[in-house]
Amino acid sequence: MPTESTTVGIVGAGPAGLMLSHLLALSGIESVAIDIRSREEIEHTNRAGILEQDSVRLLTDTGVDGRVLTDGYEHHGIELRFGGEGHRINFQELVGASVWLYPQTDVFIDLANARARDGGDVRFGVTNPAVREVTGRPVMSFTDADGVDHEVRCDYLVGSDGSRSMCRHELPESLRRQYYKEYPFAWFGIMVEAPPSAPELIYARHDRGFALISQRTDVLQRMYFQCSPTEDIDAWSDDRIWEELQTRVEGGGFRLIEGPITEKTVLPFRSFVCEPMRHGNLFLAGDAAHTVPPTGAKGLNLALQDVKVLHELLDAAINLGKTELLDTYSTRALERVWKAQQFSYRMTTMLHSLPDETPFDARRQLGQLNDIVSSRFGSAHIAECYTGWPTT
Ligand code: PHB
Repeated sequence: MPTESTTVGIVGAGPAGLMLSHLLALSGIESVAIDIRSREEIEHTNRAGILEQDSVRLLTDTGVDGRVLTDGYEHHGIELRFGGEGHRINFQELVGASVWLYPQTDVFIDLANARARDGGDVRFGVTNPAVREVTGRPVMSFTDADGVDHEVRCDYLVGSDGSRSMCRHELPESLRRQYYKEYPFAWFGIMVEAPPSAPELIYARHDRGFALISQRTDVLQRMYFQCSPTEDIDAWSDDRIWEELQTRVEGGGFRLIEGPITEKTVLPFRSFVCEPMRHGNLFLAGDAAHTVPPTGAKGLNLALQDVKVLHELLDAAINLGKTELLDTYSTRALERVWKAQQFSYRMTTMLHSLPDETPFDARRQLGQLNDIVSSRFGSAHIAECYTGWPTT
């Protein structure tokens, strides 16, 4: 079996793995990234679409691509909708920041193109991936898309292999702490062929449950509504979906622009954190270490933030010999992870209805939302969390 060697082995070539590979290359550090999925498969997975301004900067300032600025949509705020009325949270006015609507699949395409352009070593469609010796000189083994077996010895190994991470299990159970929060609901997501119903995202709270009106392009829209985790997709005709969505956002004459529904999916919904995010020479990044409910739009942003920090520390360790800095990775990454967990939890609990909710709970929830939109400090805090905390 051919034994290769590289400086950093990366398991998982989604946005986190590819961004890390790209940043390492800029620092003159070699890496090999593998993924069990084909490039086409990743490109056709619909994921969330909001980028914090620091995520946009990471794409544009490091030369991945400027397409986010031309094809993405800058949003200066969001609308919180409840009690039949919309209330705008003006990010620009409150905290001088924006977010960009730019789907994760486009981020992936830009990164994959940039890696191909710069001669990056990325192997999609591998099988039998395995890792070993993570506390020494780790080995990453796999069978490539042509059926050839490989072993790659690395100085460092990064597990950016998603929520069902194989790498995470290399942290011994005695050292691994896992924190879960299950929610008694899920999201029903649809893709719609229609013009946008609103210029910015609408997060709506209704007695029947949450709804989110997002966008994709001038002719394609993304919308979600709270449903049961065991919801039967086939029980939802287009007409029933439109009636439910229209009801959840109604008030002040507002109507969604309807159109043919081209996709229906039920999305899982949970919070998870694995600590620590490092064991020996193995580092976890992105969904491999944490997942957040989609309500705060933080998943991809957190993953990009993890690899930004990890790149900085690997660069210092490899190019300057400051290996002791690697000890700070877990603490530094987790600080932001828990802030994002708190924000996502807060957005979720203030906008969704619980199955066993009492009238008191519902009234208190409206009190909470009113408190936020009538207070400059309350609104500014939402704006600050949504657009992303400054990186230290
Ligand atoms: C999306 O556009 O898919 C989206 C946007 C914001 C969220 C979640 C999903 O909070």
